[in-house]
Amino acid sequence: MKDFHFYAPTEVVFGATAEEQTGKLVKKHGGNKVLVHYGGKSAERSGLLDKICKQLDSEGIGYIKLGGVVPNPRLSLVHTGISLCRQKGIDFILAVGGGSVIDSAKAIAYGIPYDGEVWNFYTGEAEPQSCLPVGVVLTIPAAGSEMSHSSVITNEDGDIKIGYSNNLSRPKFAVMNPERTYTLPAYQTACGAVDIMMHTMERYFSHEDDMTLTDAMAESLLRTVKDSIFEVLVNPEDYRHRAQIMWAGSLAHNDLTGCGTVGDFATHELEHELSAMFDVAHGAGLAALWCSWARYVYRENISRFVRFAVNVMGVTNDFTHPGHTALAGIEAVENFYRAIGMPTGIGQLIGRKVTDEEIGEMARKCSHDSNRTVGNLKKLTREDMIAVYKLANG
Ligand code: NZQ
Ligand code: ZN
Repeated sequence: MKDFHFYAPTEVVFGATAEEQTGKLVKKHGGNKVLVHYGGKSAERSGLLDKICKQLDSEGIGYIKLGGVVPNPRLSLVHTGISLCRQKGIDFILAVGGGSVIDSAKAIAYGIPYDGEVWNFYTGEAEPQSCLPVGVVLTIPAAGSEMSHSSVITNEDGDIKIGYSNNLSRPKFAVMNPERTYTLPAYQTACGAVDIMMHTMERYFSHEDDMTLTDAMAESLLRTVKDSIFEVLVNPEDYRHRAQIMWAGSLAHNDLTGCGTVGDFATHELEHELSAMFDVAHGAGLAALWCSWARYVYRENISRFVRFAVNVMGVTNDFTHPGHTALAGIEAVENFYRAIGMPTGIGQLIGRKVTDEEIGEMARKCSHDSNRTVGNLKKLTREDMIAVYKLANG
């Protein structure tokens, strides 16, 4: 087991009445003048936004609202948010939504106290010294941003999507009411399940083979989401299973299932190029790529793929042919994705195959013009990236 540092400072309030505590939580964490940040229409339509604003009113907390965050959140709205918050003297950002809203909120929170261009943090040209406090009212379990130290932003100038991670931005609190996820469309629910599972799988597939407790937690989380997703697709108002998925979403990406291991995250890096170029849902992009990545790299540590096949996907162990068991596990994931309506190739994801030029461009950007590799189980070079995109081009 590798040495590790586990830091999860976010206060979690979970349950059917959780959001009623939002006003008090903002106050407790020092918010006097708040930016309420949200996405398209879902939080308005459900009445959640009004409910949150009434609570801020009753706590005597001033606020302004800024909506319009889109999936794969854009840098231009971050700039708008930064100027608005400076003008109005905002001291706390409250994100009401999913990963895109939270990530946009984190970017605004970094940008307000910083004199330079906030994008420089994402490109690695500057390092933030401070960040305004961020609170979250979560409406979709998926990205895990409510407890993570990451923010992923798309710069429309060049369609560049980059994640930046820093503990400064970990939310002060996260309010999670599983009932708020009843209105999620089936596709979005499935995208979320894929993303949650991937956050754990990215940490699970490593060269470490000595993490009994972490592996057991990871496998349990994966089985739980895999089972619960079918229940909520049949009955979207199944509180019990919505709750399992919601809590799994936070634990999958607050690093709990990464303690003692070294994450891979190659599939995430490859997917960020897909969603930057084609503006697809992140979870669906991951589903389109993972099986191809897995077939490309499984020989690097066959025993982990065997363990995953048996303990998570329920494959019978063919002890004489570990490679067969490993591949059967990958095939089982492919069947699972199909069963929940997720794509298993890029063609299914965007409605056509990508061209060789597009693959070359994604690999160029992902490899930073051949200046970096991605992944740890196998460090993928630009050529490897092209090979994985080609394998996934079905
Ligand atoms: O905009 P509205 O109308 O709210 O609709 C949203 C959006 O269209 C809808 N939605 C959210 N809650 C809903 C709802 N619809 C009905 N009922 C509800 N309760 O769902 C759509 C997707 O929302 P989004 O926030 O984009 O989803 P998600 O949480 O999957 O976030 C995706 C973003 O997070 C990034 C991804 O790359 C992507 O940009 N990630 C962030 C990470 C992090 N910060 O730690 C890690 C992840 O790996 C990921 O990369
Ligand atoms: Zn993800």
